[in-house]
Amino acid sequence: MKIEDNIDTFNSLLKRAGFIWGPSPEIYGGLAGFYSYGPAGMALKNNVLSLFRKELRALGFGEVECPTVMPEIVWKASGHLDRFIDPVLKCSKCETLLRADKFLQEKLPDTMIDGISFDEMEKLIKKHKLTCPNCDTPIEKIEEYNLMLKTTVGNNSIAYLRPETATTTYLLFNRLDQVNRRQYPIKVFQYGKAYRNEISPRQMVLRMRAFDQFELQLFIGKKQEMNFEEYETIKSTSLPLLDWKLQEEKVQVPNKITLEEAINSKILKKPAYAYCLYLGYYLTRILGFTDDFMRFRQHSPNERAHYADDAWDLEIKTRQFGWVEICGIHDRTDYDLRRHGEFSKQVFSVMMDPNSKEKEIPQILEIAFGIDRILYTLLETSFTVDNERINLKLNPYLAPNQVAVFPLVRNKIEIKNLAKKVHELLLNHRIISFYDEAGSIGKRYRRQDELGTCYCITIDYESLDDNTVTIRERDSMEQIRIEIENIPEYLNEQFTVKNFQI
Ligand code: GLY
Repeated sequence: MKIEDNIDTFNSLLKRAGFIWGPSPEIYGGLAGFYSYGPAGMALKNNVLSLFRKELRALGFGEVECPTVMPEIVWKASGHLDRFIDPVLKCSKCETLLRADKFLQEKLPDTMIDGISFDEMEKLIKKHKLTCPNCDTPIEKIEEYNLMLKTTVGNNSIAYLRPETATTTYLLFNRLDQVNRRQYPIKVFQYGKAYRNEISPRQMVLRMRAFDQFELQLFIGKKQEMNFEEYETIKSTSLPLLDWKLQEEKVQVPNKITLEEAINSKILKKPAYAYCLYLGYYLTRILGFTDDFMRFRQHSPNERAHYADDAWDLEIKTRQFGWVEICGIHDRTDYDLRRHGEFSKQVFSVMMDPNSKEKEIPQILEIAFGIDRILYTLLETSFTVDNERINLKLNPYLAPNQVAVFPLVRNKIEIKNLAKKVHELLLNHRIISFYDEAGSIGKRYRRQDELGTCYCITIDYESLDDNTVTIRERDSMEQIRIEIENIPEYLNEQFTVKNFQI
């Protein structure tokens, strides 16, 4: 069968190779907005998480973990109860519920919908006489729809599943301040589930109702934001920036400019915020994304979340879903700590500047990654079909299997035994090896290519004579011969991320 380089081949690979399954639960027909990861998907996810954790600890970030359920007062204070809302259209006849902005963008592709007010949306609906796609009844009104999932705890006390990890991290400020011994910025991250009751979730794992966030927070003083030490070392990095004024002029292609140019031309206001864009970029590039597939898109003032004074999305270009946000970088000012201070009656103002006795409520800068979106975009942008060979060009340190081991033939017991010994040697060195003796050697290579395995080791007749094996590299398909005892060292060298430079 001919293997086509198209999105259907990619989508079926996701299921066949055990990356993503769903909507879950599949055997009961599936509930929209919920997906499961198979062993390959989880291995990839864990490799992304380990890499992020390692890099961030090296950059001075600590990790926290908070409950995913929080009482109502938290969300009153954070503003999510009042303002974490999507505009919806409800058909007065058949009660179909539609997300208004998505519906309008589909119907009016040439109109800029992102960021317009509810009133403006209603005017567009009237002007274009839009009707319900299900029963053709004229649509009348936009309603507000809160995205949080409500629950009760214990004896009917109202609580909500968190719609972001960030707020739960902010609630720890006093504790973090203490363990950081009042040194700023406090750098911290949290990984975990967040929940949003999306109206009509589509786009597979890109818009789920239960999803994984990996959110970095900097608690920082106002002066330090403008005079930020790390900025000096990163300011000459060029990033693909598309500010909102360019977008209003219908420009789609970002400007590749240095962060220093962006600060000098006031596209960015704060050096510490510029550092946050850099950090988002660095962590994305280290995963293997290249500039051709990346841009930073600034939110217009209307599009920003209620807590943000400035917001840029780091987006990846996909074939199936266009530009996809994988990371949002937000300047949350002192909004969150001010509100939580007011509602909890705690004092969150601290002395942040060693040269001044003045107290201030810390500012918060946030770099918020969506892990499921990273997984999807990594898989899609790594997917290639070369001469009818599916090749998932993941980085060696991200691929679910680090290596696969094959006996050249199955019916020669000495070859099989030696292959198993090599497999065990690798596992003993904690190199994730997959042993496969089923089917032709060509098929075994193909199975690993589509999982992104970078190295395949074959034990052949020569191996029995001289204790050497072949290692085949996935992309070049070149083979080298190497002594068995040297394999762990050779492979470990390939899996190490050394001095990654952008
Ligand atoms: N914490 C930011 C977000 O959820 O988008």
